[in-house]
Amino acid sequence: MQLRPRAQRTTETLRQLVAQTTLEPRNLMMPIFVRENLLEPKQISGMPGIYQQSLASLPEHLDQIMSAGILSVMLFGIPEEKDPLGSQATNPSGILHAAVKLAKSHAGSRLVVVADVCLDEFTSHGHCGLLGEQGEVLNDATLEVYQKMAVQLAIAGADVLGLSGMMDNQVAAVRAVLEANQMADTLILAYSAKFASGFYAPFRNAVESSLQGDRKSYQQDYRNPREARLEIQLDLNQGADFVMVKPALSYLDVISKAAEISHVPVMAYMVSGEYAMLNAAFETGALDRERLILETHYSVRRAGADVICTYFALELAQLLGTR
Ligand code: PBG
Repeated sequence: MQLRPRAQRTTETLRQLVAQTTLEPRNLMMPIFVRENLLEPKQISGMPGIYQQSLASLPEHLDQIMSAGILSVMLFGIPEEKDPLGSQATNPSGILHAAVKLAKSHAGSRLVVVADVCLDEFTSHGHCGLLGEQGEVLNDATLEVYQKMAVQLAIAGADVLGLSGMMDNQVAAVRAVLEANQMADTLILAYSAKFASGFYAPFRNAVESSLQGDRKSYQQDYRNPREARLEIQLDLNQGADFVMVKPALSYLDVISKAAEISHVPVMAYMVSGEYAMLNAAFETGALDRERLILETHYSVRRAGADVICTYFALELAQLLGTR
């Protein structure tokens, strides 16, 4: 018998009929940067079309996102003042808390609001945790700060806490403190397999980071898929409600593995540098914008991600709406 797979590709209708992978606005999460004391939205260097929002501009931005059919946003706060302890991260009237409160009072249950629980946006040294005397990032002392942030942000109204700091046992620590405070319905998004990646560079502009050096002592080594599997398993064991792989495009194998072993939804984060890389190619005309936005996001879905956190979310959702 001759197998003739081309027969299924002959017409657009046939191709639509047999297409295995779907991509809808509900599969997308939009990251948003909210900067304290900003008068109007400010373009982020290296990320064309992406702006730091002010508290004043946030509601309109959320309206656009919701109109496009997107159901979730990831909020990052950028404080005016940074210090070694990242004090603004645990100031209940700090910028992140205010953004979460505003987003929830504006959108209510129509939008799932994720708050980033990490210190790097708030520390003057730019690390995701507190530093010890030799400049090392302290694991357990940092967990106590995450716990405090978690409770405050849950009170502010966050539906989901995004644990992006890559400290050991961060999911268990936050799970415990939520339980102890009768906040068991606040969900935990674990950045389980987060790699020490060069693709985060434009994000550092977005959050005005002054990081010297790198995060290799806490983020994962991209050579190690076995370690990624362990990190995912540990977060599942500690009670994560979502597991995330980050970045996305160079890590499709890890996304695929996560989808295989996870009993909770899998997310992937297509990060700032992936956005920048594609946009640079669009600007030169080397690559076609719509085609490549679709192809890359479909690929991440095909690998097994239920939800993709991506700076293309708004544009892509609008594009999907017109097709
Ligand atoms: C840490 C955090 C980072 C990103 C998301 N959360 C920065 C880092 O780990 O260096 C990067 C996201 C992106 O590049 O779009 N809070």
